[in-house]
Amino acid sequence: MTLRQRGAFFYLFLFLCSRNAWADVEVTMHKNIEVYLGDSVEIPCQYKFYEVDGVPKFVMIQWFVKNAVTRARARIYYGDDQHQVVDGDTEYTGRIQMTTDQHGTKLTIKKVQLSDQRNFICSVNGLSDGTMERKTYLSVFAPPEAPIIKAVQAGISVTNEMPSTVAACQARNGFPQFNITWYRNNIPLVPSAGRVKVWTGETVESSGLYSAHSTLEYKVLKEDKDANFSCEVSFYVPGAIRTVESISVGITVHYPVTMVELWRESPAGLIKEGDTVELRCQGDGNPTPTFIFSRAREDGADEDLDSRGNVLMLQAVSRRDRGLYRCRLPDGTSHDDVKGEMELNVHYLDPAVVVPKESEAMLKGECLTASCNALSSLKTSMVWYKDSKVVGEGNMLHLQDATYETAGEYVCEVTVPALPTLHTNGSVHIVVHGGPQLVGEEQEVHLKAAVGKTVNLSCEARGHPAPRITWIFDGCQNWHEVFSKSGDHMTHSVVSFAVDSDISAICNTSNDFGIDVRAFNIKAIPLVSSSTHFSPAEGSGVIFVVIILCLLLLGILGSVLYFLHKKGKIPCGRSGKQDISKEKTAKDDIVMEMKDNGIAKSEDAVLLNAVNGDKNGTNEQ
Ligand SMILES: *[C@@H]1O[C@H](CO)[C@@H](O)[C@H](O)[C@H]1NC(C)=O
Ligand SMILES: *[C@@H]1O[C@H](CO)[C@@H](O)[C@H](O)[C@H]1NC(C)=O
Ligand SMILES: *[C@@H]1O[C@H](CO)[C@@H](O)[C@H](O)[C@H]1NC(C)=O
Repeated sequence: MTLRQRGAFFYLFLFLCSRNAWADVEVTMHKNIEVYLGDSVEIPCQYKFYEVDGVPKFVMIQWFVKNAVTRARARIYYGDDQHQVVDGDTEYTGRIQMTTDQHGTKLTIKKVQLSDQRNFICSVNGLSDGTMERKTYLSVFAPPEAPIIKAVQAGISVTNEMPSTVAACQARNGFPQFNITWYRNNIPLVPSAGRVKVWTGETVESSGLYSAHSTLEYKVLKEDKDANFSCEVSFYVPGAIRTVESISVGITVHYPVTMVELWRESPAGLIKEGDTVELRCQGDGNPTPTFIFSRAREDGADEDLDSRGNVLMLQAVSRRDRGLYRCRLPDGTSHDDVKGEMELNVHYLDPAVVVPKESEAMLKGECLTASCNALSSLKTSMVWYKDSKVVGEGNMLHLQDATYETAGEYVCEVTVPALPTLHTNGSVHIVVHGGPQLVGEEQEVHLKAAVGKTVNLSCEARGHPAPRITWIFDGCQNWHEVFSKSGDHMTHSVVSFAVDSDISAICNTSNDFGIDVRAFNIKAIPLVSSSTHFSPAEGSGVIFVVIILCLLLLGILGSVLYFLHKKGKIPCGRSGKQDISKEKTAKDDIVMEMKDNGIAKSEDAVLLNAVNGDKNGTNEQ
């Protein structure tokens, strides 16, 4: 088909469709024009006369509308060569304008109203040259306001058998009618039997605009607790369909508890008596159920406990609080097997019991086994202390061959290695009975002391009860006690006196179990007076000089004797030996010796030993 042929076909089509038998005029108008409410709109109307070379002598143009009720025609405009008149007293008076030229006319409507949605008829009359009319339907659009969604505030239970109202949506003042669609997590909810139901209602406002509301009924599942619901309006606008979505809302889903957990919140680790224990219970249901805490008694029955919310506080627990704890839902609200359980163990350590109790007397040389026991739920460890020193481990303490050193306080410290904050102790006081026993071995002590010298005698005795010490002196009146001390298991006495002659003293110690005696014999050494005093160093120097002199004299004497022998005149004489020994003995004021060993010691050492009464040097002072 060529372009010319196509044009011919087009005119044939127009002729067949719109040309009246009596008319040689062709009028063209848009079938439909769309406009927003309140806007202005132009409705063109074109015409063409075939018989009269385009332009006829007279053309009359009229615009009509039909009354919506009476269906009667009302003219709103008239125009010809001389007159252009907007008809008075119609609903368009003052609201329309007309522009015309030789081929057409154009109706402009200002401030389009809803009532303008109708046909506008354009009538072209060229009298004998032909007459014709055509119409345009004007569609008016008003977008609705954004939809407002409201979710149901109350919780919705998943156990509801029928769909429940979840949310309502409203959109107002739209034209023409519009639709509301529901969304869950941005996916459209298509109404389906038993699961999604949508109730929609529509109202016409006094303005003529439409408002619509929609209610969503939905069978909620547990997953819906986090779901977002929204509604959307879709409406026609000129040439398109537009959509506007509401905000998203969530809903409160109520679902039953399927799992309950019970655990200990604090304290961590092993629990001991006196601790405050906090147990917590948690379930997966919504709303959070109120739990009932209970404890399984020995007889198997459950004893309900006072709790606060999902917390059970056990203040200052004791071993009686041990057992199986449970938390469950109120009776009838769930299955019996939906519950939390936990075993609570409370550890303890009872006070230590030491046998023998408190105080125990032993005789010297005896044996004794003490035991220490403390009842505990855990393994214990025991250590025995005496004077802060470890003397034994384990719950038995063996004391063998008791001596006075054995006496004293024995403390048994009990600890629980697994739970170090648990500890206790017990003690026993051991007393060793026995007769006095003097410190030191000698039965008799022999001393030498220079006359006028002060001598201290010491006497220390062990024993229980503490021994008495009495001194008996012979040949001395001026002695007096300079030191005295008495303890649980010992007595110590030191006496002092000036030596004037030989003295014998007896230290007599005694208690209920016997006596022990030590004798002291002090030999007084008279002072040797001498005019010459030599120190040992000076003495040897003199001896050396004397020997030299003697040798010299001997040499001279020898030569003289030899000479006399030769001559036979002079006999043999005395040497200087006597003088030398005499000077040697005079070197000291005081000499003291220990008779039993015969070794000469310095004065201080001997005195110290005498005071201690022990030549082996057990030094207690
Ligand atoms: C409204 O829904 C109807 C029925 O589904 C549909 O034909 C129409 O086009 C919809 N209108 C809009 C504005 O989406
Ligand atoms: C004897 O004992 C007393 C008191 O302990 C002391 O003051 C004094 O120096 C002692 N004398 C000797 C010679 O040790
Ligand atoms: C020692 O003292 C006891 C008790 O006081 C007494 O019986 C005993 O005879 C005394 N011994 C001597 C040797 O004096």
